[in-house]
Amino acid sequence: MDEFKIEDYILSHIDSEPDLLKRMTREAHIKLLRPRMLSGNIQGRFLKILTSLLKPENILEIGTFTGYSALCLAEGAPENSKIVTIEIDDEMESFINKYLLQSEYGHKVDLRIGDALKLIPQYNNNYFDLIFIDANKRDFVAYYDIIFDKMKNGGIIIVDNTFWNGKVIDEEFKNDEQTKGVLQFNKHIQEDPRIEKVILPIRDGLTIIRKK
Ligand SMILES: C[S@@+](CC[C@H](N)C(=O)[O-])C[C@H]1O[C@@H](n2cnc3c(N)ncnc32)[C@H](O)[C@@H]1O
Repeated sequence: MDEFKIEDYILSHIDSEPDLLKRMTREAHIKLLRPRMLSGNIQGRFLKILTSLLKPENILEIGTFTGYSALCLAEGAPENSKIVTIEIDDEMESFINKYLLQSEYGHKVDLRIGDALKLIPQYNNNYFDLIFIDANKRDFVAYYDIIFDKMKNGGIIIVDNTFWNGKVIDEEFKNDEQTKGVLQFNKHIQEDPRIEKVILPIRDGLTIIRKK
């Protein structure tokens, strides 16, 4: 099966990308070093449907980059919901704010610039209903451990890149720091009895975890 043809087929049979996100993607490809980090339409539509279904009140995203996924989460989330999104790279702040201001969902997004590992402790326990982890692979276990008590029981954690371009099953990469981070994380949650989990083969592997 040709992966690219399947992706094109999916893209031509799902909801199209909102114009603002198309413009954001174009600008990211022109101005940013690693534009492929943004979620894209397949994952973006998935995140939007997820928030429409779950109706979460308080969402946390670790790793904003351009704000693409934050706006997709916001698009489906209820009007009174709040999406806290944390980005460590302060050079992204004006890019993100430019799009938050133009979006009809931008008012739901609360952008915090800083290190998620330092900012998360300020939130109360049992606060978030939905958390999207999409930042530094080396720190996946640390993010998971620091957010766990901040999640409500029954809350959902989504983790991106849990296949890490197939490196998780390739011996050649097993000592690479980022691959080690993803491998440790996948093992860490496999052994955690407090959760239910499944890995979806969307894009680069999307793990869905439910806190019991
Ligand atoms: C893959 S990109 C996020 C993509 C975005 N969620 C999307 O889907 O459109 C990862 C981002 O995480 C940020 N990041 C890395 N470590 C972080 C940390 N400790 N706290 C907050 N952000 C971090 C990086 O600067 C980068 O912009």
